[in-house]
Amino acid sequence: MNAAAVVPAAGRGERLGPGAPKALRELGGVPLLVHAVRALARSRAVTLVVVVAPSDGVAQVRALLDGARPEGADGPDIKVVAGGATRQESVRLGLAALPPQVDVVLVHDAARPLVPVDVVDAVARAVAEGAGAVVPGVPLADTVKLVGPASGPGRPEPVLGTPDRSTLRAVQTPQGFRRELLQQVHDRALADALDATDDAGLVEHYGGEVVVVPGHEEAFKVTRPLDLVLAEAVLARRRAQDDF
Ligand code: C5P
Repeated sequence: MNAAAVVPAAGRGERLGPGAPKALRELGGVPLLVHAVRALARSRAVTLVVVVAPSDGVAQVRALLDGARPEGADGPDIKVVAGGATRQESVRLGLAALPPQVDVVLVHDAARPLVPVDVVDAVARAVAEGAGAVVPGVPLADTVKLVGPASGPGRPEPVLGTPDRSTLRAVQTPQGFRRELLQQVHDRALADALDATDDAGLVEHYGGEVVVVPGHEEAFKVTRPLDLVLAEAVLARRRAQDDF
């Protein structure tokens, strides 16, 4: 197995409030992106990390990663390429930068800086053992309601149903793929002008099988300001336990 990671990091992160692109916001004094790349570099499975930077920030991101070279000289190679207008386009541009020998691709959001290495390894292992598409997932804490449109502005939304919570998973990244499969679904989605929020969603759309392995609560995505508070707390606990 020759696994590479593609890290889409070209989003603005508007839900986090005004400021730098989300991947460059700091957590414990270190940009989210650097945490995410280090998390991937801890896995023996990953030989290359392709970071997809905001198109006006490629040089800045390259300098940042050079200055924070994770895990010394035996870490994976790191490449930086320019991203696109959507996450899907950014992943496609990352895929285009992979050398021919790569046969497994892990797509990991820069916005998930604290993913434990065990999750990265479990996803890579499941692909190596034969799955075409693998996502880490966790059970939901909340009950989820399916809702319809409100009857007018400020009106409550009608509930249409309650899916059985035990059959639901909140999915995380890294999502792992056989490279050929991921490339195929991205090519088809481009031709069909289809946009999905995650790569496994593309595989499902075209009828491919996707399997779930256990994720981890610390692999959460930093989206809103409160997520940064939680991420700081997790990091502080890891540092206190000398485990980081
Ligand atoms: O916006 P969201 O939180 O879903 O973004 C998930 C990941 O996709 C983030 O790491 C973000 O930087 C990345 N992204 C990207 N290019 C875009 C939009 C989002 O690389 N145009």
